[in-house]
Order: sequence, then structure tokens, then C-alpha cells
Amino acid sequence: MVYAFDDIKKVGVIGAGLMGAGIAQVLATVGYDVVLNDMNAEALAKAKTDIEGRIDRMVEKGKLEADAAAAAKGRLTTSGDLTSLADTQMVIEAIIERLDIKQSLFAELEGIVSADCILASNTSSLSIASIAKNCENRARVVGMHFFNPVPLMKLVEVIGGAATDAGVVDATYEMGKAMGKEPVIAKDGPGFIVNLGGRAYYTEGLHIEAEGVAPPEQIDRIMKMAGGFRMGPFELMDLTGIDTNFPVSTFIFNGYHSDARLRTTPRHGYMVEAGLLGRKVGRGFYDYAQDLPKLPT
Ligand code: NAI
Repeated sequence: MVYAFDDIKKVGVIGAGLMGAGIAQVLATVGYDVVLNDMNAEALAKAKTDIEGRIDRMVEKGKLEADAAAAAKGRLTTSGDLTSLADTQMVIEAIIERLDIKQSLFAELEGIVSADCILASNTSSLSIASIAKNCENRARVVGMHFFNPVPLMKLVEVIGGAATDAGVVDATYEMGKAMGKEPVIAKDGPGFIVNLGGRAYYTEGLHIEAEGVAPPEQIDRIMKMAGGFRMGPFELMDLTGIDTNFPVSTFIFNGYHSDARLRTTPRHGYMVEAGLLGRKVGRGFYDYAQDLPKLPT
């Protein structure tokens, strides 16, 4: 089977949430026909409105001509029915981060799309080989991991699983470039490059705090002032959401068979249990609402 980047004209995006909507927007803006699919009609309608609003703002800011914006909107269609992806040459999945659900979706897709359609997953940490496990043709399954917010973030990790065809990795890499991104090729592994490398930043910060060496405010300040980072580890965890950061940390720790360098602290998990999830709830490692009492550190 030949998987050629040049053959890709129409792309299916499954999952119209935060990531899928961003991916569909970029694809339509750079010239691809896009079918955005979601099982939830409300999510689909909201994504369409959000995408069109963001495209309009690009015109207002002078980043896109009005006729190019109209063309981009015209290239985007939405559908709640997976069979509308039948004539796509590539599908990018951005649904819930659950292995069993992704596995059955990928197997179902094989009965809908053509034999040479590339099947990509935007998973942030699951194994590409595992996602492809129920597929008849595992060679066409690849990782294409974007970062939030997709229209602004330049990086995309392209991940070949153990069974992925080299041509599929190449075509996906070229797609990343065509979308105006800086793709980087990674091997399949828990957390790939970015989410694995980032663990050290979070867990060292958590251990420094747990040892009583310094509180979060001081660790964050030092990493920014002296280390040159834009955000400290605690600020970053509060921004991402601790209910996302903690399970990913646990998943990567387990994936590397309890490697001590990836071990987090008990407090990390207790934050989730206590509902101190970060900025989105007004309280995480920091207090964001004036009327809440300060947390002990
Ligand atoms: P989200 O919760 O905003 O959106 C997921 C969407 O998928 C929802 O609209 C839901 O209705 C839909 N969905 C769920 N199951 C479906 C199915 N079987 N068929 C069709 N639609 C279905 O999630 P988000 O944040 O966009 O994440 C999606 C994927 O992207 C996950 O795998 C996540 O790990 C990954 N990711 C997330 C990042 C983030 O910063 N949020 C960054 C990079 C990757």
C-alpha cells in the first residue's frame, strides 16, 4: 500500500472538543476539505460557531483575507455520522483519552474509509501500537500529537507505533508541515517526548516541596527568574489542570514500570481528591479567588 502526502485532499477529524476544533480550523484554513465529526450534536454546533468566530477574528486582525476566510469556512462541514468520513484520505482522531474507546473507533473506521486512508490519533500519552491493536491494517495507524491551543502552538509530535509503515510517518510529517507546524518524529512510548520530558519538571518541583526545601511560590519564581522558564512547575500544573496532570504522571510512571525518576508525591494525588484542580476551579497550588482562604504550603 502506498500512503502519499500528495493524495491527501480531504481530512476527517473525530472529536469536536478543544483539540479537534483547533485541528479542523487549521486544516480548513490551509486549504483542506474537512469533515468534523462528533457523537454529541451540541459539541459539534459549538465547535462550528467557535471555529467561524476565530476565523472572523483572524480577518479583523489582518491575519487572513476576507475571501480566504470565506473559503476556509466553506471547506468545513460537520457530521454526527462516521460514514461521512468515507471519502477522506486521512482521519485525525481527537476523542476522549480512553484506550478501549479509541481501539474500537479505529477498528470501526477500517470498515468505513478506503484501504489507503491514514488513521492518526491525537492521543497525548497512549501507545499508538495499543490504539491499533484491533485494526486489520496496523501499518496505517500513526500518532499526530498537537498542543493546545492548536492554531497557535507550533509543535506537533509524529509518532510511529511498532507496526506503523514508514510512508505513513513521512506523510503525517508532511501534513504537519502543510499545517504550518514544526513536526518532530518520536518513537512510541509513554508520554512520547514532550509529556515524558515534562515529567521531570513537575515531579522535581513536587519533591522539592515535599522535602520542605522550598514552597511552590519560591520554586516557580526561581525557575522563571534564574532558569529562564516562562512558567514554574506549579503554575503550569494549575493551568493544565491537576486532574489531567496527575493521571498522565501516573500513566507514564506505570508505563516505565515504576521507574523511580518518574515517581510523583502523595500530595499530587490528594489535590485531585480534594477538588483543588487549578485555575479552572479557582484553587490549586495557588488561590485565584480573593475570597478563598490561602492554602497552607
Ligand atoms: P474534549 O473533551 O474537549 O473533546 C472530546 C470530544 O470528543 C467531545 O466533544 C466528545 O463529545 C467527543 N467524543 C468522545 N467520544 C467520541 C466518539 N466515540 N466519537 C465521536 N466523538 C467523540 O477533549 P480534548 O481536550 O479535545 O482531547 C481530545 C484528545 O486530545 C484526547 O486524546 C487528549 O488526550 C488529546 N490531547 C489533549 C490536549 C489538551 O490540552 N486538552 C493536548 C493534546 C492532546
